[in-house]
Amino acid sequence: MLAVSRVEKHNPLKSGAIAQKRAALKGETSGRVTEIKELTFDTVREDAIQYGLATDVTYQINAGKEASIFLAQWRGHHIILKAYRLWQSSHKMSKKKGYIAQGTSKRTHFILGMMEDLAVMEYDYLMNCFRAGVHVPTPIGRVGNYLTMRFIGDGAQPAPQLKDVHLENPEKVLDQILDDYLLMYSKAHYVHGDLSKYNILWWQERPWIIDVPQAVIVNKWSNMVRVEKLLMRDIRNVLRHFEDYDIYRDPEHILEVFLSEYIPENLKNYRELRSEGIELL
Ligand SMILES: Nc1ncnc2c1ncn2[C@@H]1O[C@H](COP(=O)(O)OP(=O)(O)O)[C@@H](O)[C@H]1O
Ligand SMILES: [Mg+2]
Repeated sequence: MLAVSRVEKHNPLKSGAIAQKRAALKGETSGRVTEIKELTFDTVREDAIQYGLATDVTYQINAGKEASIFLAQWRGHHIILKAYRLWQSSHKMSKKKGYIAQGTSKRTHFILGMMEDLAVMEYDYLMNCFRAGVHVPTPIGRVGNYLTMRFIGDGAQPAPQLKDVHLENPEKVLDQILDDYLLMYSKAHYVHGDLSKYNILWWQERPWIIDVPQAVIVNKWSNMVRVEKLLMRDIRNVLRHFEDYDIYRDPEHILEVFLSEYIPENLKNYRELRSEGIELL
């Protein structure tokens, strides 16, 4: 695996100090911005095999902002390999402020460390959701900034996203999604944060929730006002998709069901405090 300092040193796209200043003067970029590129398919494959996470890596499915997703093999079984990285597809980070992670808003100068943290977090989120009984891809392993999880799909074909399937029984599917999300919230204590027809796969006649890295933990330190907003946004996103099937449900009511199932003990009266003008956190 490449250490970030090495990537920077050998990065042919990183301009010299004078060129950076010139660009900054032109308003193109800040003088302190570094561009990091790298991480090839072969590197990922070598790493994954060397770390014992996969016996082979087949192809890249997707490249998100902070992670790339690969179809991999474990002794003939398909699995998903996720590589957190910042050195592919041109990322900018400020040398002064460091890099600020999308999901967590955490700030760091130690990028590889943060990429590892993100992989750890996603592994934990998936494991806790799985243990709570939520239909998510089961996490399998994690080494450094790589993690593996169960492959949702048949053959080498990933299961379709909810947006691409026509449901025979949409009422039931909506119930299944809301039930799963309620488990995620009330038992695992997470708000998904990006639940939508894109992050729900349709497989084996039921919905599967994926893409959890931006999930927010709900605990005694949480800002419940923010939690409520995120929950509401997720619920509305899901409901919007089902309006295409002429199914209309009240998002306010669903939100109340969620909140009646779980609010951290010390925050139970957050709404009263708020109406009295007391800001929580
Ligand atoms: N466990 C999985 N099994 C099968 N396909 C997956 C799995 N995880 C992700 N994918 C595929 O990769 C795509 C992107 O994954 P996702 O986690 O939503 O990342 P992002 O949206 O951040 O790029 C999904 O739409 C799906 O097609
Ligand atoms: Mg997604």
